[in-house]
Amino acid sequence: MLPDGYTGLPPGKIAAVVTYLEMRRPAPPAAPLPVSPTGLTVERLEKPDLDRYRRLYRAVGEDWLWFSRMRLNDTGLAAIVHHPQVEVSVLRSNGEDKGLSELDFRETPTAELTFFGLTADMIGQGAGRFLMAHALHQAWLHPIDRLFVHTCTLDHPRAVNFYIKSGFTPYKRAIEIADDPRLTGALRPDAAPWLPLIR
Ligand SMILES: CC(C)(COP(=O)(O)OP(=O)(O)OC[C@H]1O[C@@H](n2cnc3c(N)ncnc32)[C@H](O)[C@@H]1OP(=O)(O)O)[C@@H](O)C(=O)NCCC(=O)NCCS
Repeated sequence: MLPDGYTGLPPGKIAAVVTYLEMRRPAPPAAPLPVSPTGLTVERLEKPDLDRYRRLYRAVGEDWLWFSRMRLNDTGLAAIVHHPQVEVSVLRSNGEDKGLSELDFRETPTAELTFFGLTADMIGQGAGRFLMAHALHQAWLHPIDRLFVHTCTLDHPRAVNFYIKSGFTPYKRAIEIADDPRLTGALRPDAAPWLPLIR
């Protein structure tokens, strides 16, 4: 039983409230996607180049303090993103990588949408919906009975609603405590300036 009230954190630690959401059958297809005037495409990366993966992961996630993949060396990262049951896709716009969608089928019949996000310049234009339509189509091609995702209070404030609108249902909350990745060197010290560093 966790005590109510505030729990202090030592300097150098951050905390977030995590919401888990799941989908137990394919969501009804959303309204047809408008033809993208900006020529968005989604490309599956087989065995992604690790530098390209890290660049995109950082471009999408650094301002939201995504750090877990930045802590991994090449061997650790390749063990995940080159795994045959992990599927990494990129959103491409004008020849540039602008979004990341990663699906993990290592624990089927449950699958996880492990990472999902756009670079800041793409947010709020329908690109998330477009990339999600691809991710859901790709996920449910597999023999799964459940797809889950989690997002935390360090992520974009619209992420939970975006997932609900995409067909996920919230089912669990958790508190995640971690070393501040800006102090460990995993991320830029000036990332997410709205969350001050406490050394
Ligand atoms: C979460 C995230 C993917 C949502 O993407 P998004 O661009 O905000 O979401 P959408 O693609 O649905 O677009 C949002 C709004 O753009 C607007 N929009 C503009 N043009 C549009 C179009 N052609 N089609 C659809 N929506 C359009 C709409 O107002 C839409 O909101 P609505 O669906 O409520 O009307 C994005 O905010 C993100 O990548 N955030 C950073 C990383 C992150 O937090 N990831 C999630 C945590 S794991």
